[in-house]
Amino acid sequence: MTGFIGAIDQGTTSTRFIIFDDAGDVVTLDRREHAQICPKPGWVEHDATEIWRNTVATIEGALAKAGLSAADLAAVGVTNQRETTLLWDKETGAPLHNAIVWMDTRVEPLVERFSRDGFAKRLREKTGLPLASYFSALKLVWLFENVPEARARAERGSVLFGTVDSWLIWNFTGGRHLTDATNASRTLLMSLETLDWDEELLRYFDIPRACLPKICASSEVYGACAAPLEGVPLAGALGDQQAALLGQACLAPGQAKNTYGTGCFLLMNTGLSPRASQRGLITTLGYKLGSSPPVYALEGSVAIAGALTQWLRDNLGLIRSSEEIEPLAKSVPDNGGVYFVPAFSGLYAPRWRADARGLIAGLTLFSTKAHIARAALEAAAFQTQELARAMAEDAGAPLLELRVDGGMTENDLLMQFQADILNAPLARPKSIETTALGAAYAAGLAVGFWKSEADIAAHWRCAKRWSPGMGEAERARLFQGWEKAVERSLGWES
Ligand code: G3P
Repeated sequence: MTGFIGAIDQGTTSTRFIIFDDAGDVVTLDRREHAQICPKPGWVEHDATEIWRNTVATIEGALAKAGLSAADLAAVGVTNQRETTLLWDKETGAPLHNAIVWMDTRVEPLVERFSRDGFAKRLREKTGLPLASYFSALKLVWLFENVPEARARAERGSVLFGTVDSWLIWNFTGGRHLTDATNASRTLLMSLETLDWDEELLRYFDIPRACLPKICASSEVYGACAAPLEGVPLAGALGDQQAALLGQACLAPGQAKNTYGTGCFLLMNTGLSPRASQRGLITTLGYKLGSSPPVYALEGSVAIAGALTQWLRDNLGLIRSSEEIEPLAKSVPDNGGVYFVPAFSGLYAPRWRADARGLIAGLTLFSTKAHIARAALEAAAFQTQELARAMAEDAGAPLLELRVDGGMTENDLLMQFQADILNAPLARPKSIETTALGAAYAAGLAVGFWKSEADIAAHWRCAKRWSPGMGEAERARLFQGWEKAVERSLGWES
C-alpha cells in the first residue's frame, strides 16, 4: 500500500495541502492565502478560480517539499469552508459570479422576506438550522435574482451549484458533480433524516433540482483525480468543522471539540440521531463514513475569532503580524475593563442576532492598544463560553473536557483564559492540523489505508492541557462585563 494520504484544506482565508503518514502525523504542508473581496459593507466574496489555482499550487508545493509524487499517495481528501456558495458553467467550468462567502450578510433582506410566513420552524425541524444569512440557500436565491440568465440556465442544468467541496471535486474529477452530506447539511436544502435534497425545501426556496450535486457519504471513492494528483483516488470530503470533529477523534457521543479559525466552531458528537437544540445551537451532520449510519452533532458557530486578529493587523494596523498579538496582550495584566464584541456579521449562535454590530466597550483614558488586543483575544473565549453553556444545557451535563485545535491554540494566554472562563480543562492533540487530518481519515478509511474508527482513535494523543485556575467570583465578574457589552451591540442595524 502506498505510504501517505493527502488532504486539501480549503479554508476562508487560505488553502493548504497537507501530507500525512499512517500514524496521522504531518509529513509536510504548503499554504496559499487568497483575496478577501469586500465590495460593500457586509459583503465577502472569493474568486473561485483563484481558489482552484491555489489548490493546485499548494499540492505541487507540498509534494515538492516532501520529495514525493502523486503516486506516493494512497488517497486524498477534501475539507472546506462551509456554506460558501458557487455557481459555474457546466461546459466551461467558468464561475458565473464570485463565490459568496459564508459570513457575507447581503441576504439579510431575504431572511426578512422568507421569515414572514412562519416557515422557519419547519426549516429548523427538517434541517436543524435557523433561517439566517449564514447558510447557502439564500445566497443561491440571491445569485438567481441578481445574475442574468442564472436561473434559466440552472433549470436547464447547464449551470451548477456547489459549495467549495463540490467545486474542487468537480475540477479534480473532470466534472463529477457531487457533495458530501456534511456540506449539504449546511445549505438549508437537505433533510437531516433522509440525507437527500428535500422537495418541500426546494419548492419553498424555488431551487431547481437540476443544478444540485448528488449527495454522497463523507468517506467513499468519488473518482480518480486529474493532475497534479494524477490517478489518486479522491475518497473523502467533509465540511471543515465536521472534519475537525473526526480529526479530533470525537467518535463517542458527548465528546466535543472547538476549532479556533476564522471563526470558532464548537461541535459535540450526539450519536446516531439528530438532537434538536433548545438553546440556539445548530443540529448538523457530524459525518457519514461509507455505508455506516450517519453520526450527528450539535454545533455552536461563532463568525469572528481569529479573523479579529487579522482585522487588527490589516484594517487598524495595531499589530504588524498575527504573532504580535499575544505579547501585546500579555503586556497588561488584564483587560482593564475593555470588551470587544466582534459582531461584524451580526451574532451567530446562540443568539442569532443579525442586527448586532461590532463594538469596543469600556474605554477610558487608561486604555491602551494592549487592552484592546487582550479584549480581542478574550472575545473568542467569551463567545466559546456562551456556546459551551448552551451545549451543556442542551446535553443536560457540563462539558468535562474540550478538545481544541486551530491556529489560535498556539496562543497560551488565550488558552489559559479559555480554561478559566469555561471552568473546564482544554486538551490540545499532538497535531493542531485536525481539520485536514479529518479529511485524510475519511479518505484513508475509504481505501483501506486505515481499517477502522478504532485505528483513528488510537492516534489521538494529548500534547498540551490547560486547567482552570480562576476563582468563581472573578469568572462571574468578567462574564458579566462581556454580557453587558454584547447587550449594547444588539439592535445596531435595525
Ligand atoms: O462555517 C464556516 C466555517 O466552515 C469556516 O471555517 O476554518 O475557514 O474559519 P474556517
